[in-house]
Amino acid sequence: MNKKIGVIFGGPSPEHDISILTGLQSVRILSKKYDVTSLYWSKDNNWYLVENAYESVDFINNKNLFKKKLELKFNDDPGFYHKRKKIELDVIVNSCHGGPGEDGSIQSLLNLLGIKYTGPDEVSAQICMDKYAFYTLMKENDLPVIDKTLVNNQNVEFQGNQILKPRFGGSSIGVEIVNDRKTLNKLVENSDLYTQGAVFEKFLENSIDLLVGVRNYPNFETSEIEKPIKSDTLFTYTDKYLENGGLEGSKRELPATLDKNLETEILNLVEKINKLIPTRGIFRYDFLLHNENLYINEINTIPGSHALYLWKNLNNSKFELLDEMINEALTSKFNNWSITGSDGIALKSAKEIDSKLG
Ligand SMILES: Nc1ncnc2c1ncn2[C@@H]1O[C@H](COP(=O)(O)OP(=O)(O)O)[C@@H](O)[C@H]1O
Ligand SMILES: [Mg+2]
Repeated sequence: MNKKIGVIFGGPSPEHDISILTGLQSVRILSKKYDVTSLYWSKDNNWYLVENAYESVDFINNKNLFKKKLELKFNDDPGFYHKRKKIELDVIVNSCHGGPGEDGSIQSLLNLLGIKYTGPDEVSAQICMDKYAFYTLMKENDLPVIDKTLVNNQNVEFQGNQILKPRFGGSSIGVEIVNDRKTLNKLVENSDLYTQGAVFEKFLENSIDLLVGVRNYPNFETSEIEKPIKSDTLFTYTDKYLENGGLEGSKRELPATLDKNLETEILNLVEKINKLIPTRGIFRYDFLLHNENLYINEINTIPGSHALYLWKNLNNSKFELLDEMINEALTSKFNNWSITGSDGIALKSAKEIDSKLG
């Protein structure tokens, strides 16, 4: 079947640029076989139809980017339109990172438009983007997680170094080690990164990041485990994207050489968490290992490069991985938000609205 695929990327998020890289990679891989349309979501929250052949540098100071504006229509054949012509799509590959592309907003919008999409649904997206909600869900289910405090809880005093994070952040942006309350409050007051909230937790010195890709379609499966090589105490934005050609080129041990028991522990935790927050698409589970203690740090529901590189030594090609994400989206149940059979009894009997509701 020649599927009509829309790839969305960019978005008003601090991870806008990284999303362009993930989006362009998806466009390249999928255009070999399918009819692909690139839908660019700009930093200022507008939508544009752009060339599939664009390279990453074409997204810097390029006026041509903004020539073909898209419109969204909610009524009467909803969808994306360009000059009153509908962009026919079977499915959208969501390649957005952070912000409204990964926090449930675009997922809710696509639900209302009746467009199928890859990656998390609105609920998983929201839970995993909200570091405090994710933490409480893990804690409630006795899963190993580092205790977090909301920054606006001024009653909690510091003991030792703490790590500050935007409550709804990603890509290590705004993640800072702090050793006193005053500095923390100053940081939060002076940066837009924390306007939606912030959390802090104990800084675990010399901890090791361990990352694993997870999918449920065609079957439950985990990728190889990656151990990123950090240049400093934290796995930073620079480590992830700016050194060594970025994204897939950054330094890592893959597969990580791990003790068999630790590997089993990781996989057992993945299975438990996957039951609480069902994976759709490819999620990347990020663990932290500190003095033999393993913690689930976070889940990235739309990881950089869709985490395709984590399957490098396994049997799946990048095309197959994306194609299976697409088939999963096409066969998943989506709520089309229309109901039948409202009986109208309450309306019929409400003769005098003011007295009924008053
Ligand atoms: N409690 C902690 N102790 C030590 N290092 C941490 C801790 N939390 C996070 N880090 C480091 O900071 C990085 C970014 O933090 P993370 O919670 O993953 O935020 P983001 O959502 O921005 O990726 C992690 O990959 C890890 O290297
Ligand atoms: Mg992270």
